[in-house]
Amino acid sequence: QKRKIDTLIEMHEKAATLFQHVLLKTKVGEPALEYLYQRGLTDEQIEHFGIGFAPSENSLLRKVFENEGYSEELLEASGLMSLRDNGEFVDRFFGRIMFPIRNNQGKLVAFSGRLFDQYLLDQKKSPKYLNSPETEIFNKRQVLYNFYEARKTGRKENELVLFEGFMDVIAAHNAGITNGVASMGTSLTGEQINTLQRTVGQLLICYDGDNAGKEASFRALKTISEQSALDISLVLLPEKMDPDEFIQKYGSERFIHLLRNQRESPFTFKLDYYKQNKNLENEHDRFDYLNTMVTELLSVNSVIEREVYIKQLADNFDVSVEAIQAEIQKGLSNQT
Ligand code: UTP
Ligand code: MN
Ligand code: MN
Ligand code: MN
Ligand code: MN
Repeated sequence: QKRKIDTLIEMHEKAATLFQHVLLKTKVGEPALEYLYQRGLTDEQIEHFGIGFAPSENSLLRKVFENEGYSEELLEASGLMSLRDNGEFVDRFFGRIMFPIRNNQGKLVAFSGRLFDQYLLDQKKSPKYLNSPETEIFNKRQVLYNFYEARKTGRKENELVLFEGFMDVIAAHNAGITNGVASMGTSLTGEQINTLQRTVGQLLICYDGDNAGKEASFRALKTISEQSALDISLVLLPEKMDPDEFIQKYGSERFIHLLRNQRESPFTFKLDYYKQNKNLENEHDRFDYLNTMVTELLSVNSVIEREVYIKQLADNFDVSVEAIQAEIQKGLSNQT
């Protein structure tokens, strides 16, 4: 007899096949396919990522699964159905572009479905992306989108790239960056950091260029450096763009160039980050800022790196290198 979790995974595989068929081969899939083409995806990429479409009718999967004899218990346990008050099962996902989510071992365990109809999005009755609930096979704290694929290139290059969204992972893949992963729309968890750490030594954070993305980068930086020895660098995208938008606008080559040549160290990122909401013309804010940066310098372990940053700070604020070094010494002796 088959184990329950294998059956649940099999149900996801069947659903993904069905959704992809609807997207690529049927009339009801046409608007969704058109939308994806407009976003620059090709059939090959759609197939590579297993993208599909769940039509607006909310009982397609239920009917298929019932016909195939899956029990009600399985329907519920799959997370693919919701149980109405009247005891009836309806499909959880309908009228959405479907992104299959594989766990870190490559098994299909969940979906994320995107609304693309502008009218429905504007109504804000339902989220842009709807994810599967937690189930016996899906633990979103564990899963990194595309990890199973990305780890191959990741191991080779000793680096993974962390994006905010699925569409960024996909756009980056199309641009030739095949070591991209994303968390499930939440901040990075300890479990995910462990997975990253077991696979590579370096992590490049490439979140959205808007404020939310910067805040998320700052938080990720903090959790990762507290919980791992990963060597982190960051890329900031201009004009509040996300990686997908950047690639659409400027092309793959400029994106790759950005990732290769415009990386910042965590310290340089913080140098900018802490300037937000501060008026550095103002003496009080300037001292505040310098004190914060000295505190940050205390946690830079490499003596060489620290020296470079001290010079950077001294030049920027017209204070002497010796003064900063003296502050650091004070800070260090306070720590012990
Ligand atoms: P974004 O809003 O940046 O989405 O959210 P995106 O990746 O740029 O998607 P497109 O380009 O609009 O299609 C980043 C991530 O946050 C999660 C998803 O995982 C998404 O990839 N998210 C976002 C949700 O879970 N639900 C939402 O309603 C929105
Ligand atoms: Mn690939
Ligand atoms: Mn965002
Ligand atoms: Mn985005
Ligand atoms: Mn986007």
